[in-house]
Amino acid sequence: MEHPLTAVTLERLRELARDRFGIRRFRPGQAEVIESILGGKDVLAILPTGGGKSLTYQLPALALPGTTLVVSPLISLMQDQVEKLRAVGVEVAMVNSTLSEKELREAVQTIGAGKHRLAYVTPERLADPAFRQVVAQARPQLFVVDEAHCVSQWGHDFRPAYLGLAAAVEELGHPPVLALTATATDKVIGDIVRQLGMRDPQVLIAGFDRQNLFFEVIHTSTEHGRRRRLVEYVKRSRGSGIVYCATIQHVEEIAQLLRESGVDVGRYHGQMRAKEREAVQRAFMATGSPRVIVATNAFGLGVDKPDIRFVLHAQMPGSLEAYFQEAGRAGRDGRPSRCTLLYQAGDRRVQAYFLGGRYPRPEDVIRVDRALERHARAEAQGLDVVAEAAELPLRTVRVVLSLLVELGLAVEEDGAKVRASGPVAADEDLASAALRYEERRREDRARLDAVVRYATSTLCRTRILLAYFGEDAASTCGHCDSCLRRVRRAEEEARKEEERRLSEEAEARVAAARAAAAAAAAESAHLRRPLRTFRPTRKKPESRSGQKALGPGSRVTHPAFGEGEVLVVQDDRVTAFFPGRGERTVKLAFLERV
Ligand SMILES: Nc1ncnc2c1ncn2[C@@H]1O[C@H](COP(=O)(O)OP(=O)(O)OP(=O)(O)O)[C@@H](O)[C@H]1O
Ligand SMILES: [Mg+2]
Ligand SMILES: [Zn+2]
Repeated sequence: MEHPLTAVTLERLRELARDRFGIRRFRPGQAEVIESILGGKDVLAILPTGGGKSLTYQLPALALPGTTLVVSPLISLMQDQVEKLRAVGVEVAMVNSTLSEKELREAVQTIGAGKHRLAYVTPERLADPAFRQVVAQARPQLFVVDEAHCVSQWGHDFRPAYLGLAAAVEELGHPPVLALTATATDKVIGDIVRQLGMRDPQVLIAGFDRQNLFFEVIHTSTEHGRRRRLVEYVKRSRGSGIVYCATIQHVEEIAQLLRESGVDVGRYHGQMRAKEREAVQRAFMATGSPRVIVATNAFGLGVDKPDIRFVLHAQMPGSLEAYFQEAGRAGRDGRPSRCTLLYQAGDRRVQAYFLGGRYPRPEDVIRVDRALERHARAEAQGLDVVAEAAELPLRTVRVVLSLLVELGLAVEEDGAKVRASGPVAADEDLASAALRYEERRREDRARLDAVVRYATSTLCRTRILLAYFGEDAASTCGHCDSCLRRVRRAEEEARKEEERRLSEEAEARVAAARAAAAAAAAESAHLRRPLRTFRPTRKKPESRSGQKALGPGSRVTHPAFGEGEVLVVQDDRVTAFFPGRGERTVKLAFLERV
């Protein structure tokens, strides 16, 4: 059957983009993504942060007969999109935990009736089988997974509920799947494709090189130094900015420090109340006050503020994926913006510490399996029941369960429930299955090393970043500190070279003039007194003895550099300071005392 979208042309969507959204030109990659969707394919699109990923499904959604389902990980992100779409008159629903009972009922009912062009849902909501049935009634023609890297345990925003999306896609009859993300290494790409059950997907990657972003690293050697540089940096900055910190405690301290320095600053982290967080985010986005947000990486997934002028990382992030995604929030309006990393040698240890508790240990795998055996063999149970029985956090249980499902030791029923299945596994087998997490730990360490390399290298930073994502890049980007240093060094070299040339020319001219004068004198002497070979002059010995007496502080002139002050005399070379030229080392013979 021909996919309904094939009747829609790219041209038609261009018109829609202009009429509905006032967008005149597609950004790199947008047209390709849209075209592939129009072809009815599963598509994995990797477009830079702020590259306009939303438009690639919103436009097809407007032209589609059914509802486009959009899975989005964050409520704030969802609200933002929904508000924007409603503002241009698009019928759109969202289902998340902020809705009241009544709103929820209404949303579910209208979605079921197919009244919306788009329905935004959280992955947790889609895990609910009753809700999935409602969604099925709307016959979605396109299944969008935004921030798709959240499905990957290799990625930096792993969200266990994303693991249930493949089942949802299947249940809905596998409509075309569009997975969107800004950053994906080969490994994450593989994960997304596999975990979402994408079929023969088209993988589209648009350029990562964002020319308006200036990448730089500032090295510090003490915590005190780091804070001083940070405060200086933020005080000197203009416009909105984000300061990312590695821990909540750092966020609190740095925000306080900046406030005391008179910066209009707000905080954002996972331990603040949701209402408070939203208020700060909204104020930052809408009014630009607070001017600066100090945050953990909880801030920003989908922050779509165009005029963020700087993103400063106070500590090194856990991976270059995370760094590029966070830094990439700067300069979405295309105007020059800075991405700065403060780096200190001990930073890697802090990150390594965070990674320590990230993956289930062999004993966790055994405990979850045992809990399943005891409580969920006869009858499927909710994850919370299993988690309680295993005495482990829900998050860990979700991750372990995806392993157990893969091993055939557990099955999911109706999405939200699980049951033990297959033979009872031995402890050793479970423990050895858990070894796969060892490999992940190794990967994590390698990713930390990549950040350290980025921070400590003198090579072009953009090149290092792009190479990390598997893109070729010119050896110099011209918009990073390494390139800038190189340009400055080259300019300095060229300037020195030019001065060397000038000075040599001048010296050669003086030497030639002296030789000519000497020859002329010899000639005339020879004419007058042919046999005389030595003729002491009054001037020469005097000037020679004068030059011998040159020492630090002597004032001299040089044919090319003009007047100067002697700093060091060594044999026949003199280093002198010439105002306007700096320190130069020249031959003693070409200096005249003044
Ligand atoms: N072709 C275009 N021309 C001009 N503006 C555009 C275009 N496409 C999208 N935009 C605007 O760019 C901004 C960023 O778009 P969007 O939020 O879709 O980015 P994104 O790729 O999803 O970023 P993130 O990775 O942070 O989610 C939005 O304000 C959007 O309206
Ligand atoms: Mg987005
Ligand atoms: Zn560069």
